Amino acid sequence: MFDSLQALPEDPILGLMAAFRADPASRKIDLGVGVYKDEHGKTPVLAAVRAAEQAVLADQQTKTYVGPGGNDQFNALMTELILGKQHTALTSRRVRGVQAPGGCGALRLGAELLIATGSRPTVHVSDPTWANHVPLLSGAGLKLESYPYFDARTGAVRFDAMLERLDALPAGDVVLLHGCCHNPTGADLSMEQWRKVADVLLQRRLIPYVDIAYQGLGEGIEQDAEGARLIAATVPEALVAVSCSKNFGLYRERVGLLMVLAENEAQANASASHLRKIARGIYSMPPDHGAAIVARILSEAKFNADWRNELDAMRNRMLKLRHTFAAALTKTCNAEVGTAIDRQRGMFSMLPLTPEAVDTLREKHHIYMTRDGRINIAGISLESIDYLAEAVGSVFRR
Ligand code: LMR
Repeated sequence: MFDSLQALPEDPILGLMAAFRADPASRKIDLGVGVYKDEHGKTPVLAAVRAAEQAVLADQQTKTYVGPGGNDQFNALMTELILGKQHTALTSRRVRGVQAPGGCGALRLGAELLIATGSRPTVHVSDPTWANHVPLLSGAGLKLESYPYFDARTGAVRFDAMLERLDALPAGDVVLLHGCCHNPTGADLSMEQWRKVADVLLQRRLIPYVDIAYQGLGEGIEQDAEGARLIAATVPEALVAVSCSKNFGLYRERVGLLMVLAENEAQANASASHLRKIARGIYSMPPDHGAAIVARILSEAKFNADWRNELDAMRNRMLKLRHTFAAALTKTCNAEVGTAIDRQRGMFSMLPLTPEAVDTLREKHHIYMTRDGRINIAGISLESIDYLAEAVGSVFRR
């Protein structure tokens, strides 16, 4: 049977990790997979995570099953972290959160819930979007289409074109939005633009599906959630997929949450029951460990304060790298490139490079990034900025 299977190429993002590790060059730079790195290129375990993890292990009395919906305390605290404690969707009891194996697991759970409704809506994703959105959503059986989003020339959002497309979609279709720190471009909506998007979604009875995987790494913990909060305050129904991989540094522990906003409490409860059934049918229940750590951090003042400080430090380091790199690119490429990178936010930006130019950077300079020119800002170090900017300038077509 398996002789019918042909070997597949590596994943466009994860494959870069292995290629980088295998490169014997002494000077090499990894701007590939989206993980935070310190100045030495290491992805540290956060001190708040270490402390909370020890507390979790010391207090744990059992390893018995938790259940398909995961850790209820985690679900409640994460829902509050995203929406803010006093959000009307929470006080009107229209929201339910279900723990999921990472942001990917959350995205798939939401996709399966859309299928379970029987309506099989088309999901509209930004052009471009995170590469893994496609298999995660279409793998559940959903049809995908894209809406205009990024202007590679200006490095900004093509907002008029985006809004025009959304305004022409049929009622009941789903619109996937990046809550903050757009992946792969770093080009985010302003609050004024979020308001216009929310109004169109409401008027056209579209279902927003917000993917928020970088809360705290763009402008700040509260600021980065404002788009999702506005959406949840405006529309009757929405999905929100959340990842704790980057802002808690829990990548391999697979910690995520799928939030469903329904028209009323009964529908929210019914939706959550479907999510638990779907989880049971795919992986039975999510892994406990990482979610238990997050619940401990969010529920204990000392851990919480330490985590927020560490998150602020990660964001500020990336902002400094971004500004310094943008200034260097202004010299080696041009002012437009520098200005665009400077204005973008979060872990990523997209350099205006051809796939062939990206190949040259890898082969000649041992600089790794995805072939669309996406770079992980955290993979830059202050020490490497000039070298990197020179190399990018050498393959950049003016
Ligand atoms: C990325 O975009 O690099 C990260 O979200 C890691 C992944 O799973 O692709």
